[in-house]
Amino acid sequence: MRNLAPYSFFNAFSYAPPLIGFASTDRKHTARNAELSGEFTWNLVTRALTEQMNATSTTADTDEFVAAGLEAAESVDISAPRVAASPVSFECRVSDVIALRGADGQAFTGVLTIGEVVAVHIDEAMIAGGVYQTALAHPVLRAGGPSAYFEILAEGRFDLIRPR
Ligand SMILES: Cc1cc2nc3c(=O)[nH]c(=O)nc-3n(C[C@H](O)[C@H](O)[C@H](O)COP(=O)(O)O)c2cc1C
Repeated sequence: MRNLAPYSFFNAFSYAPPLIGFASTDRKHTARNAELSGEFTWNLVTRALTEQMNATSTTADTDEFVAAGLEAAESVDISAPRVAASPVSFECRVSDVIALRGADGQAFTGVLTIGEVVAVHIDEAMIAGGVYQTALAHPVLRAGGPSAYFEILAEGRFDLIRPR
């Protein structure tokens, strides 16, 4: 069954190999599917896709592309599909599934799934001067509380040079 879900416990962990991962509070469909199939795709949520993203957060056991009204796109290196309307997607092969523990060493139901990015898809309209332009995609961030989100806009940008 094709599955989709939003995961805000998400991050990148390494440049080479390029590793990304997400944490699930328990072995939900996404974590289970990734572990069993050995692959997953990550798809950027944009402002235009927020309603559909929210729709995929149900626990329903249905094809969540169909349920959310999202078209799937075939991946090139793995069999898990991508979200066609997302301007940035990564195809990943699972490299680690880590059972999470508290500081007391006690395992709980949480699991961190890490994957190596084996293919990257970026809509060329998001690239200027050879550099991905974050604000062009209008990505969204989950914020505090049960309902708050922020849209990333060009006017929120500032630049910083790292100290040597
Ligand atoms: C914006 C948003 C972010 C979420 N982030 C997480 C998360 O990081 N970890 C988690 O376990 N659940 C998270 N959830 C809840 C899951 O998306 C939800 O439990 C979903 O049903 C899981 O689907 P699955 O069983 O298909 O994996 C989030 C929900 C929303 C709306």
